[in-house]
Amino acid sequence: MRDRVRDVPDFPSPGVLFRDLTPLLADPRAFDACIEALAAPWSAAGIDVVCGIEARGFIFGAALARRLEAGFVPLRKPGKLPPPVVEVEYALEYGADRLQAAAGALQGHRRVLLVDDVLATGGTLAAACRLVERLGAGIAGAAVVIEIESLAGRTRWPCDTPLHAVLRY
Ligand code: PRP
Repeated sequence: MRDRVRDVPDFPSPGVLFRDLTPLLADPRAFDACIEALAAPWSAAGIDVVCGIEARGFIFGAALARRLEAGFVPLRKPGKLPPPVVEVEYALEYGADRLQAAAGALQGHRRVLLVDDVLATGGTLAAACRLVERLGAGIAGAAVVIEIESLAGRTRWPCDTPLHAVLRY
């Protein structure tokens, strides 16, 4: 699976090493293996809904939701979802961004699994966590395909529930 992740130096900006997952998605065996590895820690966890983070979190999150026989709820960048929405703001290296979900989307859900492609600084996943809590749901944990350990994003995970990564760099 790791051999289907392409390293792209200096993208999207100089000094950044981008981990490109599109070769993995294009290979059905590698994609299957990735979804199985994402699902493994959660197969008996009673997950009732998977929340995927825009954009690449949608691809892995939707496939994982069906693997776990759970529903899927997208956490989106601003301006994409029709009202009413609930949102959280979070800091970026320069400036701020927001994450939104449909109000009521998680009503009655106790066991939410957050999914994204990459855990880098951890700001996005921490914001997703706050958003799900603001929607009144319970967080069972988080699953990411890639964890960039040098950026210590795991230390910003605000829940006392598990965070599992398939590949660590
Ligand atoms: C990337 C990645 C994660 C986030 C991780 O998203 O898909 O969502 O950054 O970074 P962090 O841990 O430092 O917060 P990006 O904003 O590039 O969005 P995209 O998936 O729409 O390309």
